[in-house]
Amino acid sequence: MGKTEIISKKSVCVEINDIVLPGYTNMYHTLFGGKLMEMIDKAAAICATRYCHELVVTASVEAIDFHVPIKVGYFVKLVAKVIFVGNSSMMIRVNVWGEEPLSGKNVHCCTAFVNMVAIDSNGNKVRVPGLITETEQEIQDLNEALEIRKSTLHRRENRRKT
Ligand SMILES: CC(C)(COP(=O)(O)OP(=O)(O)OC[C@H]1O[C@@H](n2cnc3c(N)ncnc32)[C@H](O)[C@@H]1OP(=O)(O)O)[C@@H](O)C(=O)NCCC(=O)NCCS
Repeated sequence: MGKTEIISKKSVCVEINDIVLPGYTNMYHTLFGGKLMEMIDKAAAICATRYCHELVVTASVEAIDFHVPIKVGYFVKLVAKVIFVGNSSMMIRVNVWGEEPLSGKNVHCCTAFVNMVAIDSNGNKVRVPGLITETEQEIQDLNEALEIRKSTLHRRENRRKT
């Protein structure tokens, strides 16, 4: 595995803002789920790349919950953060808010957990720096990520058997 020399580092957080244009919507005039998934994937990819400075691919989206629809014309804010790091994989939590542009009132609309893997130019996995967790929140996030990872590994194991 890879070239990375740094043993461990702090988490990285990425914020992306966009606006729900009519071309992004479904027949209910709210943000199309597939479009939001694309935004989430991009936010997670930027976040993971900024963390490890390697090429990354999406391995899986472990959970995605759409809590509230986001209307056309609203602003969309995505906040992606590295919450777990393995050897070559990173789990990125992406939280999404919808904001009514005139009032600035915003609502938490979606949460997703995306597993990204660092690879070299031949597609082979590469090692990434370990994650330093400092704050109470980061430790809580890590524990949540470890629970999610347990079910990922369990699912992958079961798939292998079939
Ligand atoms: C993701 C990928 C690089 C993993 O390669 P692999 O040879 O299966 O690697 P391994 O089984 O040894 O796993 C490598 C790491 O990825 C993790 N991983 C692999 N598949 C995973 C999945 N489906 N979900 C979560 N993590 C996964 C493993 O847990 C392991 O983590 P660790 O190194 O931190 O312990 C490979 O399956 C791949 O290239 N998939 C296609 C990716 C893609 O095209 N994405 C869409 C476009 S970006």
